[in-house]
Amino acid sequence: MEKIRIQGPCRLEGSVRVSGAKNAVLPEMAATLLMDGPIRLTNVPAVRDVLTMARVLRHLGMRQVVLHDDVLRIEPGDAAEPDAPYELVKTMRASVLVLGPLLARRGQARVSLPGGCAIGTRPVDLHLAALRRMGATIEIEHGYMVASCPRLRGAEIRFEVPTVTGTENIMMAATLAEGRTVLSNCAREPEIEDLAGFLNACGAHVSGAGSETIVIEGVDRLQGTEHRVMPDRIEAGTFLMAAAATGSRVTVDGCPAGLLGAALDTLRACGLVIDEQGDALTIDRQGELRAADITTEPYPGFPTDLQAQYMAVMTQARGPARISETIFENRMMHVGELCRMGARIELDGQIAIVHGPTPLSGAPVMASDLRASASLIVAGLAAHGETIVDRAYHIDRGYERVETKFHTLGARIERLS
Ligand code: EPZ
Repeated sequence: MEKIRIQGPCRLEGSVRVSGAKNAVLPEMAATLLMDGPIRLTNVPAVRDVLTMARVLRHLGMRQVVLHDDVLRIEPGDAAEPDAPYELVKTMRASVLVLGPLLARRGQARVSLPGGCAIGTRPVDLHLAALRRMGATIEIEHGYMVASCPRLRGAEIRFEVPTVTGTENIMMAATLAEGRTVLSNCAREPEIEDLAGFLNACGAHVSGAGSETIVIEGVDRLQGTEHRVMPDRIEAGTFLMAAAATGSRVTVDGCPAGLLGAALDTLRACGLVIDEQGDALTIDRQGELRAADITTEPYPGFPTDLQAQYMAVMTQARGPARISETIFENRMMHVGELCRMGARIELDGQIAIVHGPTPLSGAPVMASDLRASASLIVAGLAAHGETIVDRAYHIDRGYERVETKFHTLGARIERLS
C-alpha cells in the first residue's frame, strides 16, 4: 500500500501549473461512445480515474484509447456486449457516464450499478428517471442497469436536485435523440460547459450549458474532433489552500479566477491576498489568518470538493469556523484524522466547528477518499514533524504526480512504496 511522507512545517514558494480537469475529461471520454470518427483529447491528466475510464471504454469495444503524455487518442469501435462490468465500475462511480451515450448510440447498455462510496450512497435514480422519460426501458438485474431503447426521443426533464453527472449523462444521450430535449434545474458546473463545447464541436446542438436550463436538438450522428480539456479548478484550489495553511506565497498557473469564484471570495475573507494575472493566481498571507464560515453548495457556491482542504486551513485560522457540508451525507471522514494531528474540531452530523489557530503535529494518518487525502497532505505541510498518509492511491485518483508538484514548491514530501 503506497504512502506519502511529509516533513513539516514548510514554507512553499514558486509556481505550479494545474493539469486538465478530471471531472471534465471523464464525461468527455464517455462522450466518445457517441461519435463516428477518431477523437483526440489534449491536456488530459494522467490520474487513476482516467486510466480506469480508458479500461471501461476498451471493454466497450473502443479502439486505441491510448494516453501518451497528455494526449488521449480514441478510435470508435463496437463490442458484441456493451457492458460496463462491476469490477471496473466499483472502483469509479463516474462509469455511470457511459450509460447515456451507450443507449443513444447503440440502443442498449448493461452497466453495473455504481454502488456507494466513502462519501455517501451516491444514488443514480435521477439519471434513470430521465432516461426513462426519453423512452428507455431500464431494469435492475443482479446489480446491473440493463437498458434498451431503439431510439431515444427528446423530452422535457426537470432534475429534482442539480446533479453534475446526471446533467452530463442526459445531455450526452439527448444529442442523438429524436427531437428536442429541455433539461431544467441542471447543475451549472464549468465541466458541463466544457463537455457541451466538445459535443458541439462534434456536430451536436447543445445550448445553455452552464445555466440551469439546457436545450439539446437531436442530430443523426456526431463526428470526431480534437478538444483541449479545461483546467482542474479543484486541483488549483487545493494548491491555494496549501499555501494558505502554510503562510506561503505561491503562484498557481493555468486556472482562470472565474472557475474558483466562491473559494477565492472565502479565502480573501480570511485575510489572504490573491492577485489575478490572466490565468495565474498568486496567493499570499499577510498578517493573521481569520476564520470564515462556509456552506458547500452546487456551483457557483463553495464546492464540496474543496471542503476537506479548507478545513485543514481553518485549523490555522483565528476564531471558530463553521463548515457545513450539504451535498454529500458522509463527507467528514477527514475530521477524525485531522484531530489526531491536534486539530480541535467539534462535529455534529455534517456540520463541523473548527477552533483555531491550533498547532498541528505530524502523525500517521489514513486517507479515506480523494479529497480527504488532499486535506491530510495540506495539514501535513503545516504540521510540526512527520506525517505519513496511508492509502495514497486515493489521492492518485484525482491528482497527477501530487508529490512532484508539491516538491517543486519546496515541500519535503516523498512517496514510500
Ligand atoms: C460530481 O459527482 C463529481 N464527480 C464529484 O466530484 C462532485 O463532488 C459532485 O459532482 C458534486 O459537485 C464527477 O464529476 C465525476 P451529483 P456526482 O450527482 O455527479 C444527489 C471528486 O472528488 N443525487 O452532483 O456523482 C447526490 O446524492 C468527486 O472529484 C441523487 O440523489 O454528484 C448528491 O447529494 C467526488 N440522485 C447530489 O445529488 C442522483 O441520481 C449531488 O450529486 C444523482 C445525484
